[in-house]
Amino acid sequence: MRILLTGATGFIGGHILTALREAGHEVQGVSRRLGVDFNRMLRPEDWLPRLNGVEAVINAVGIIAETRGQSFETLHHRAPAALFRACERAEVKRVVQISALGADERAFTPYQLTKRAADEVLRGLSLDWFVLRPSLVYGPGGKSTDLFRGLAALPLIPLVGDGRQWVQPVHLSDLVATVLRCLQPDIPARQTLDVVGAHPLTFADWLQWLRRSQGKGPAPVLPVPLPLVMASARLGRFLVPMLHPDNLRMLQQGSTADAAPLTRFLGRPPLAMEAFPLPVEGCP
Ligand SMILES: NC(=O)c1ccc[n+]([C@@H]2O[C@H](COP(=O)([O-])OP(=O)(O)OC[C@H]3O[C@@H](n4cnc5c(N)ncnc54)[C@H](OP(=O)(O)O)[C@@H]3O)[C@@H](O)[C@H]2O)c1
Repeated sequence: MRILLTGATGFIGGHILTALREAGHEVQGVSRRLGVDFNRMLRPEDWLPRLNGVEAVINAVGIIAETRGQSFETLHHRAPAALFRACERAEVKRVVQISALGADERAFTPYQLTKRAADEVLRGLSLDWFVLRPSLVYGPGGKSTDLFRGLAALPLIPLVGDGRQWVQPVHLSDLVATVLRCLQPDIPARQTLDVVGAHPLTFADWLQWLRRSQGKGPAPVLPVPLPLVMASARLGRFLVPMLHPDNLRMLQQGSTADAAPLTRFLGRPPLAMEAFPLPVEGCP
């Protein structure tokens, strides 16, 4: 299949690119490093010349925080909406959009709202679409994986508040497998799928698991009161954009979903973490 993959130089896109090529697909990658800036791709006409002979498009461009010249509205909504409309005009068979868990009726941050806006444009088009909403994705080379692994390796692990925020990290290979399955002609399209790990766990347990995965024993934790974390985040985001207060608010909101639809889609459950703490009382 001839495929256009945006975000091909990123953590998720890079692994999708490798898997697609291994599966024998012909892939054209798109990103700034590959000469295409979403900031200049805001009309369907900008995309049409790139869609000649393309049978499927996968969009894996995104940012976790805004920086100069990189806005959520442009990168998550306007440029992808133009791409999706161009796909309809060029009769591209399938479009796979990497959205994010929480880009639904609960969305409240610009990150989630702009993702949701693009998802809604895609759902309104007459083509075969998939909207994939991954939770936190972990795997080699992930910026959030590296940040959390670093925190987990400290002798005293700092927690956001009591650390009982619910998360459901999904392994990168499950997301890649889901994308590949979306391209199979026998799989019915027009689906929105939450791409989550096997079970929810608390953020504190997630950090302890990341610690164990580095061969370290359990460490004491330091619960940092939320107002103090927010104040630090307002300053720290200039060094680490991921620390933006909105991202902490999304963490507080929790990020979980039923894994059964993904299990049915893949024909197997998502990968479970070894020694995964069992869900405890209060788990959604
Ligand atoms: N990682 C997660 O845990 C996670 C969870 C849920 C959803 N997602 C979503 O998955 C997608 C990929 O995330 P990721 O973790 O792989 O991010 P990433 O590693 O930061 O990759 C982002 C990609 O977007 C490209 N990009 C950024 N600005 C661009 C621009 N102006 N024009 C063209 N390309 C641009 C980057 O390439 P250049 O720098 O070369 O432009 C890169 O290829 C995002 O939409 C993200 O919201 C990620």
